[in-house]
Amino acid sequence: MLSRRPRRNRKSAVIREMVEETRLSTKDFIFPLFVIEGTGKRVEVKSMPGIFRFSLDVLLKEIEECLMLGIRTFAIFPAIDDSKKDKYATESVNGEGLYLRALSEIKKRFPEACLMTDVAMDPYSSDGHDGLVKDGQIVNDETLEILGKMAVAQAATGADIIGPSDMMDGRVGYIREMLDDAGYTNTSILAYTAKYASAFYGPFRDALDSAPKSGDKKTYQMDTANRNEALIEAELDYNEGADILMVKPALAYLDVIRLLKDNFPLPIAAYNVSGEYAMIKAAAQNGWLDGEKAMVESLLSIKRAGASIILSYFAREFAQLQKQ
Ligand code: PBG
Repeated sequence: MLSRRPRRNRKSAVIREMVEETRLSTKDFIFPLFVIEGTGKRVEVKSMPGIFRFSLDVLLKEIEECLMLGIRTFAIFPAIDDSKKDKYATESVNGEGLYLRALSEIKKRFPEACLMTDVAMDPYSSDGHDGLVKDGQIVNDETLEILGKMAVAQAATGADIIGPSDMMDGRVGYIREMLDDAGYTNTSILAYTAKYASAFYGPFRDALDSAPKSGDKKTYQMDTANRNEALIEAELDYNEGADILMVKPALAYLDVIRLLKDNFPLPIAAYNVSGEYAMIKAAAQNGWLDGEKAMVESLLSIKRAGASIILSYFAREFAQLQKQ
């Protein structure tokens, strides 16, 4: 006789649901949203069906609807006009500029919404890089000064969480100190800790028109082949005062999510990036797979790997599914 029959725990929906080890909740999600200049605008990102670039007035309505669906945290990214981009990303600290205006306005209208920002030069940089380019090199320490000012300007809008996505060395500690010196000791840092040089960011760069003008991001983003480096990055971010550690992308890096989860006591986040979204949407549109099931399966795998926080373009669709 078989003494162990694992199938007994799969025999009915009730039992299956009772023994589930991992459960997704709308509360796990951070919803990335793109803001553009203008009014009345809702422009679909071609490579991301169902994801839009909103002008601020429409974005506020979108956030209101998301809040009603139970999504509470939003990561806002700006698409900046080329005419406003320069070498030093000066537009990033313009209080009257699109991004800082949007953050203040959202916070004013919806104080209950938790807002995460993006700290990196690429949306504002004429070079399209996350750091300052000098003689063809991305210079680390000069970039820190720019990032620090950017972070303080974002904190001043009332944003809850600062999200450095640039991968410069020492930026978490530098930003922490700048924030503290400016009195923003209560503003959190979610560090893009293990951010890989990935092909899966393509649709995002289309959305923001932020692709590098020359070269690639391999001198600052991590090599796909490496895991130990993720431990070094995590240890630095941990010691420099990060509140949350993030792995990005998610699906091709589930082992890295688990590695950080097992080695650090901080909450672990994962960014289910634009290309991961686009792949499922494209296959579903072709009738090649069931988009909804593939969405839930991949989101569950990210949580099972050890991420308690998931940045995902699926957040709204998932929240809607939960409401049904
Ligand atoms: C850049 C940034 C990127 C993403 C978030 N912040 C792209 C990049 O590094 O080129 C990608 C997110 C996505 O693909 O969904 N600071």
